[in-house]
Amino acid sequence: MTTPILFFGGKGGVGKTTLAAATALGLAQLGRRTLLISTDPAHSLSDLLDQPLGDQATNVAANLWVRELDPDAAREHYLAAVKDNIRRFAAPEFLREAERQVELAGMHPGATESALFEALCRQLDELEQWDHIIVDTAPTGHTLHLLTLPESMQAWTQALLAHQLDARPGNLPERDDPRRRARDLLQARQDLFQRTRTRLQDPRLTGFVLVVNDDRLSVSEGVRARETLERARVSIPALIINRTVRPESQVREAVESRFPKLTQVVVPAAETTPQGLADLKRLAVYLQDAGLIH
Ligand SMILES: Nc1ncnc2c1ncn2[C@@H]1O[C@H](COP(=O)(O)OP(=O)(O)OP(=O)(O)O)[C@@H](O)[C@H]1O
Ligand SMILES: [Mg+2]
Repeated sequence: MTTPILFFGGKGGVGKTTLAAATALGLAQLGRRTLLISTDPAHSLSDLLDQPLGDQATNVAANLWVRELDPDAAREHYLAAVKDNIRRFAAPEFLREAERQVELAGMHPGATESALFEALCRQLDELEQWDHIIVDTAPTGHTLHLLTLPESMQAWTQALLAHQLDARPGNLPERDDPRRRARDLLQARQDLFQRTRTRLQDPRLTGFVLVVNDDRLSVSEGVRARETLERARVSIPALIINRTVRPESQVREAVESRFPKLTQVVVPAAETTPQGLADLKRLAVYLQDAGLIH
């Protein structure tokens, strides 16, 4: 059975969004409650499905819901929470500097990534509401970074927690400490990252489908992505070679040796740009045959 959480990643333009959507639709057609979620700020699911989508899960077919994470909303939510927290517990001499750091950090593109990642963690934390969550990701570099983020964010949260413990005035009983809630919030966030990491590294729960095209650049990037995923101990249920025009045997011969011991799925180029549910259904057949949808 397909793992409950399935990521689709690969170089820009290889077909992640298309194949993630086809897989989600295939699973939904098996009667599974499926959420297709995009972390790519350049949302393309609404174009692919030809309907407006947003940050709330929208039902697009039987058993299929789609959500496009809103990066600006996620960043605002994230920075507001961080500042609120800092205001509650930072020692006065630390406060101004801390807020300045948050402001600066908020302008960094990484802040949006962190915020999107946190929003995704919250979504994955509600896994029990779904049979499958299919994640359409931004181009590889980005996504792999996302997968390693929990570690750095955890370190940051831990540092704040340690500082907070040092800063608690000794004469206040624990229950009256106004900063207690802040510490609880930090702890909850820390726990969320920990749970997410555990889930991402559990091959029964999470798989990362690598998508490449039949060209040298995307194959090389795929090989590097595989190494990174293996280092991060994330399982790869399949490699999809998408949009091929050569005969399948030639594709396999050219690509197979670069990806030893990975299940490989060849999806030929469709005659027209896939758009809408009917086209996605046709693509889903290949993924079903390869065992990705079962
Ligand atoms: N099997 C296929 N046959 C024909 N066209 C395809 C196929 N798969 C994807 N495409 C087309 O290739 C283009 C890129 O696909 P898609 O948007 O799914 O890629 P992506 O990896 O999500 O891109 P990005 O990195 O920009 O998010 C689109 O125009 C899509 O319709
Ligand atoms: Mg895409």
